[in-house]
Amino acid sequence: MVTVRAIRPDDRDALRAAFHKLSPQSRYRRFLGHLSDLSPAMLRYLTEVDGVDHFAVVALLERPRRPALMALGGALFERWQAPPEIVGVARLIRLRPDTAEVAITVADAFQRKGLGARLLSILVAHARRTGVDELVAHVLAENKPMRELLSTVGVVRSVAQDTVTVTLPKKSSRTAGGRRRAARAWRAGGVRFVLALRWLRIQRWSS
Ligand SMILES: CC(C)(COP(=O)(O)OP(=O)(O)OC[C@H]1O[C@@H](n2cnc3c(N)ncnc32)[C@H](O)[C@@H]1OP(=O)(O)O)[C@@H](O)C(=O)NCCC(=O)NCCS
Repeated sequence: MVTVRAIRPDDRDALRAAFHKLSPQSRYRRFLGHLSDLSPAMLRYLTEVDGVDHFAVVALLERPRRPALMALGGALFERWQAPPEIVGVARLIRLRPDTAEVAITVADAFQRKGLGARLLSILVAHARRTGVDELVAHVLAENKPMRELLSTVGVVRSVAQDTVTVTLPKKSSRTAGGRRRAARAWRAGGVRFVLALRWLRIQRWSS
């Protein structure tokens, strides 16, 4: 099962592990350079977010529990269960009142299964709630998957080398109330979704 929830400070180790699992190409596309590790400061920055102006979610692969083994091992088995693995990260960082930077990473084995689209839709919902109608993304010219993905939610324009803007279609929500509600939702544990979208394709991979 894949669930999506707000990122938390204690995701630091799992985030680092997910970074190390990325293929060199995905890592390069996400960070626009050869990065060999995430420093403690970067990990803090990426996981300690306010949920409003810096909003981030993780997609977690939770291994199905085996009822027979559970009955045998009980609580001990629970402790041996591998912690959920991060298979996707999506973040939105406000740059100006109506503009935010977007970044998404999906683990290589999960790409092309609909997860990136699901994560982007969560970001777009947050953007709308908080008055953002323009997204900025640093995307290599050769990164067709991300460029195509962004074009599914708005009009994409190249504004500089490796930088695009995406204008979301008008359907504006307004800032103050939306930001207050977003802050409240975040404090209450943030978003949590169980992914059903194209889920069969993911399940087939994980079994
Ligand atoms: C870009 C990325 C997030 C897409 O995630 P994903 O889970 O593979 O995307 P999805 O399966 O949800 O695909 C959604 C849409 O994106 C586009 N897309 C995704 N992969 C594509 C590919 N290889 N070629 C062309 N279009 C592609 C398509 O429009 C697709 O819709 P469709 O399946 O109906 O054709 C993923 O490839 C990734 O993590 N890449 C490495 C990191 C990166 O480049 N991040 C962007 C920098 S901010």
